[in-house]
Amino acid sequence: MADANKTATLTIGGANYELPILSPTEGPDVIDIRKLYAQADVFTYDPGFTSTASCDSEITFIDGDKGELLHRGYPIDQLASKSHYLEVCYLLLYGELPSPAQLEDFESRVTNHTMVHEQMHRFFTGFRRDAHPMAIMVGVVGAMSAFYHDSTDISDPWQREVASIRLIAKMPTIAAMAYKYTIGQPFVYPRNDLDYASNFLRMCFAVPAEDYTPNPVLSRAMDRIFTLHADHEQNASTSTVRLASSSGANPFACIAAGIACLWGPAHGGANQACLEMLREIGTVDQIPEYIRRAKDKNDPFRLMGFGHRVYKNFDPRAKVMKESADEVLDLLGIEDNPTLQVAKELEKQALQDDYFVDKKLFPNVDFYSGIILEAMGFPTAMFTPIFAMSRTIGWISQWKEMIEDPAMKIGRPRQLYTGAGARDYVDVENR
Ligand code: SDX
Repeated sequence: MADANKTATLTIGGANYELPILSPTEGPDVIDIRKLYAQADVFTYDPGFTSTASCDSEITFIDGDKGELLHRGYPIDQLASKSHYLEVCYLLLYGELPSPAQLEDFESRVTNHTMVHEQMHRFFTGFRRDAHPMAIMVGVVGAMSAFYHDSTDISDPWQREVASIRLIAKMPTIAAMAYKYTIGQPFVYPRNDLDYASNFLRMCFAVPAEDYTPNPVLSRAMDRIFTLHADHEQNASTSTVRLASSSGANPFACIAAGIACLWGPAHGGANQACLEMLREIGTVDQIPEYIRRAKDKNDPFRLMGFGHRVYKNFDPRAKVMKESADEVLDLLGIEDNPTLQVAKELEKQALQDDYFVDKKLFPNVDFYSGIILEAMGFPTAMFTPIFAMSRTIGWISQWKEMIEDPAMKIGRPRQLYTGAGARDYVDVENR
């Protein structure tokens, strides 16, 4: 990475500081400022990390201008069409596509960890029935460290492996239990004769009175949604997991922190907010008014599902998601879904508007996912839990990469202090 012939020179107060430049496999060069404070007694300032690389990673690369997303070098559109979620999990976790034997072993290990400790069922009953499923997932996943003590020692490679498999395997079960609990239906146990996506659909939609046989097209669409949400460089929730993990906290607590961060409407909560926005717009003739509001600096309204910190072109995941939306709605015979009609017309009008074109605001992964999930029968409150369970493999893979890096140190950013200078205490009677 370091290229001895490439350095950056910083001049401060007449003094020059040579900073090494690190060259990546793909993407912009990186100026290494690790020694800057010690040498020049200055900090750099970048509150939203728009120009800051927080780590080096081999897992995922995004080219925002090209609209490209690579997982261990493989383009997302190829993985979405040719692979499946558990194979992508293996790729993200271990770095290479598995052999048939490796894939069979990995799938078997995940399948045989899908049940949760029976005591966890009682944990759910402490929540109100109207609790948001994300609130339940943050609590239950954080509590996993109380149930799975034998896989919390992050210095033990075997325990790291077991915790990774447990989280990948149990997240669908926990998400489905959160859904069942909020609708007052009994929990449905996972089954080992179903694939990952079919198992999740059955745990959500089967009832004791009537079993549920997943439609293969819906299972495929569900699996593709998992794949499209699997990992995405150092987004807010992944950065949260890395920062929490840097203190040595156990993996379950760190993933719970990631879930909490993902919940925000500017991040993973956008899929729920986007569908609610499409419903609020209601009909195609209301679109111009909402586009006007999104452009009005005095109006806090933003087009949910539009824009991205990195993509300044189409989000490649949105393209695949749009194809899936057409397939699923066609299968379910709801081509004239009013929400989908509003979404397609909104996308068309926004992409013809200079404001969105000039600011490079394109539909992102959250724009179409909600339409598919709603068509499959999920309430909007389940959209972000599905994003969270899909992203667990990304969080775990990035966590593993960081923990296994010998150079890892606790994350501890500095600040630009703008508060009061030192001053003496004044007794209350003298104020
Ligand atoms: C995800 O990081 C990841 O990789 C995230 C994610 C992942 O897989 O982990 O891809 C998942 O979180 C996708 C994003 C989902 N969020 C939304 O759809 C919410 C709506 N989008 C915006 O909140 C916004 O676009 C962000 C948060 C996604 C990105 O914000 P940035 O990069 O900080 O950009 P910005 O807020 O500085 O906006 C730049 C300009 C501003 O106008 P100016 O101040 O320059 O005049 O664009 C405007 C913004 O007002 N703008 C929008 C807009 N998004 C940005 N205007 C209207 N509607 C929008 N959606």
